[in-house]
Amino acid sequence: MSVPASLGTIVVIIPTFNERENLPLIVGRVRAATPDVDVLVVDDNSPDGTGQLADDLAEADPQVNVLHRTAKDGLGAAYLAGFQLVLDQGYDVMVEMDADGSHQPEELPLLLTALEEGADLAIGARWVPGGRVHNWPLSREVLSQGGNTYARMMLGIGLHDATAGYRAFRRTALEKIGLDTVDSRGYCFQIDMALRAVRAGLRVVEVPINFVERELGVSKMSGNIVAEAMWRVTQWGVRDRFKGSGPY
Ligand code: GDD
Ligand code: MN
Repeated sequence: MSVPASLGTIVVIIPTFNERENLPLIVGRVRAATPDVDVLVVDDNSPDGTGQLADDLAEADPQVNVLHRTAKDGLGAAYLAGFQLVLDQGYDVMVEMDADGSHQPEELPLLLTALEEGADLAIGARWVPGGRVHNWPLSREVLSQGGNTYARMMLGIGLHDATAGYRAFRRTALEKIGLDTVDSRGYCFQIDMALRAVRAGLRVVEVPINFVERELGVSKMSGNIVAEAMWRVTQWGVRDRFKGSGPY
């Protein structure tokens, strides 16, 4: 499968915190699967030296770049900084991808094709027909499905995987959403962006993907991240009900 040329310039943003075993593998897979696509690693000063490793990869490949941040500040903050940089650099399409191999670079053309067919935001979804999760413990499946059911009920956005982290945005979608007011720090950033996209009238399409649990390193998911997501989804749901927006 090739990348649709009509989309313009494409960059995959990979946030990292302590991913030294995974980073060379994922960057290599992206570059092999989609040679025209650039990579931006956003590292939060990982103590395990991931940032230095990213610099080495960038040194060896002009299509790989690195944004260094000073401290671990959450997935959402890392993506916001990355988006701002690549928007300023003039890219046309921005892709989000985890560093740990859970998102298959070989499936990126599926997301890009959805954009070419008219989507403003393509979400690589697990909890849709054809979507699959490999090697996740039952506890994680329950958390993800439960979180998505709660978000769908509270927010009325009709998506089945609003927390998914494999996504492709057109730059015009990010411009319309407006990044200045987004302040979700952790993984609820994903729900926040999906909600804003739907509310902005953008065309959001879910594409079934294969999500594969990491084999190396550890997840950064924490109780705080879950609590932030629960609290914020509840807040947004209540706010939107009072404003009367959205179908319930
Ligand atoms: N720069 C930076 N800063 N990167 C971070 C941070 C941070 O504070 N926290 C996590 N990351 C990076 C990780 O290094 C990894 O590349 C990616 O973000 C995802 O983190 P994981 O820790 O592997 O997440 P997960 O597998 O538990 O969660 C997955 O499911 C969530 C819920 O569906 C991901 O796909 C998430 O994106 C998704 O929201
Ligand atoms: Mn992961």
